[in-house]
Amino acid sequence: MRKIKILTVVGARPQFIKAAALSRAIKKFNNNSDSIKVEESIVHTGQHYDDNMSKIFFDQLKIPHPEINLEVGSGLHGKQTGMMLEKLEEVAIDKKPDWMLIYGDTNSTLAAAIAASKLHIPIAHVEAGLRSFNRKMPEEVNRVVADHLSRILLCPTDTAVKNLSNEGITDRVYQIGDVMYDSVLFNFKLAVGGSNIIEQLGLVSGQYYLATIHRAENTDEPQRLQNIINAFSQIDATIVLPLHPRTKNTLGVSLKKLAGNVLITAPVAYLDMLMLEKNASVILTDSGGVQKEAYWASVPCITLRDETEWIELVDAGVNQIAGADTAAILDAVEKVGQVADRLKSTNTRLYGDGNTAEKIVEKLVFSSSL
Ligand code: UD1
Ligand code: UDP
Repeated sequence: MRKIKILTVVGARPQFIKAAALSRAIKKFNNNSDSIKVEESIVHTGQHYDDNMSKIFFDQLKIPHPEINLEVGSGLHGKQTGMMLEKLEEVAIDKKPDWMLIYGDTNSTLAAAIAASKLHIPIAHVEAGLRSFNRKMPEEVNRVVADHLSRILLCPTDTAVKNLSNEGITDRVYQIGDVMYDSVLFNFKLAVGGSNIIEQLGLVSGQYYLATIHRAENTDEPQRLQNIINAFSQIDATIVLPLHPRTKNTLGVSLKKLAGNVLITAPVAYLDMLMLEKNASVILTDSGGVQKEAYWASVPCITLRDETEWIELVDAGVNQIAGADTAAILDAVEKVGQVADRLKSTNTRLYGDGNTAEKIVEKLVFSSSL
């Protein structure tokens, strides 16, 4: 029997959600295969560590608990990434995996990519090829480096494939759809019976907005954050804001300045988030994942950034880029009716067929002799 050893590195909230779909697909593969078995070890860098940013996802999504938690915690980019790199190198030397599996564009992704490449461990990068073309974003730097170091590049969209091609990366690039769609399909059914967040918060379906804010470009720029808050205060609806700890820290005392229509909660569990998204009338966000979840939930999205990697949604007219400009956000709110009409006629398969995790496992198994 052939064994393929995978070292999965995660550290941030969206990576736990993506890794859950993969772990399920690995289990399924092993159940159906006698000749080849995939053995996955999960390492948590400790980048996210609050229970509601980490443990809650492992528990609710039944992700195998990480064998190792590096407990790196928060810090400046260099220090945080450096600590991860040092510890991941030790783990990788010890584990000798056939693949290092990395997700997205966080500092955990970057550290894992550097550690693996120096040890000549092939890297499989899920969510390869995304670009905002804004090098001031830490994520853009992380993903460019990770892509250029990866052995197989697992792209969610045709645009991602094209972006890689423009940088000269054309070998072992696969368009396999978005693993987050697998996750939404699987978990939405569970959320319907398993979450009572709408009742708990006293919300009425279709009569509130949902917002998330956590990007450095918004939280670290007081004027941008203020502009967003000003826009929120002029919206004639309840805005539910599950607050990322980064934003909570930045807002600090100014939390009190948030208008009465903003309902702040702690970060919520994934099933609760899916229900909040599905029942919202509008979603305002600077998150990558939440932009796509708005589309899958058929809810108009307003993106609180100056650009997006998920350009297909803008091209389809279902996501409006408003940046952090009060007037632009309010103008986008005025137009959500047209967006809702477009959502009714838009193909819901912009990001694959919901079997991306299985395709990733196949690529790991059948590329391992490359
Ligand atoms: C990180 C990723 C970002 C991703 C996001 C998902 C990088 C550079 N950024 O951003 O791409 O979209 O995760 O949510 O990797 N904090 C806590 N408790 C926690 C985690 C964070 O209090 O459990 C606070 C700390 O003050 C920390 C700050 O949040 O300094 C930022 O956390 P960090 O992981 O550095 O970046 P994120 O903004 O979460
Ligand atoms: N999410 C969650 N609870 C929250 C906020 C977000 O479960 O309180 C989920 C959300 O549904 C999506 C993912 O976290 O699947 C997005 O993570 P985040 O916005 O932190 O990061 P990004 O996608 O921007 O990298």
